[in-house]
Amino acid sequence: MNIAVAGDHSAVGHTRAIIAHLKQAGHQVEDFGTTTETSCDYPDYAGPACKSLTTGRNERVVLVCGTGIGVSIVANKVQGIRCALVHDEGTARLAREHNNAQALALGARIVDVPTALRMVDTWLGATFEARHQRRLDKIAAREGCALPTKP
Ligand code: RB5
Repeated sequence: MNIAVAGDHSAVGHTRAIIAHLKQAGHQVEDFGTTTETSCDYPDYAGPACKSLTTGRNERVVLVCGTGIGVSIVANKVQGIRCALVHDEGTARLAREHNNAQALALGARIVDVPTALRMVDTWLGATFEARHQRRLDKIAAREGCALPTKP
């Protein structure tokens, strides 16, 4: 599978380990950086990684920042992407089974590297349950819709 990986300075240890782990498992990995611990801005890395999903160059994207929150916000601004911020193997599995999330966000300050690797494996190994498709169709229909106006 073609997988994009991106993260900020707080996540370099995690993204390095995830990239090595995915390559060892036989995946094609595109590293969108950052590659150093010099302070940077996560949208500059998560944004292009998500874009590569929408163009079809990659099929999945793994995003890591300190909490996972920032990168998940960036990813969910990109049309068509369903990014799940997950905290354990259970939420990683459900992100696929219920939400068919093509993007996984996790926090380098929240989960350690071995846990992160297990979460990525669990997410990649899980299968979407088609009974949830109706909800995903409704999410897609809402994309681009305006915020409700105050009465
Ligand atoms: C960077 O210090 C930090 O804000 C970032 O990694 C992330 O946690 C944001 O959501």
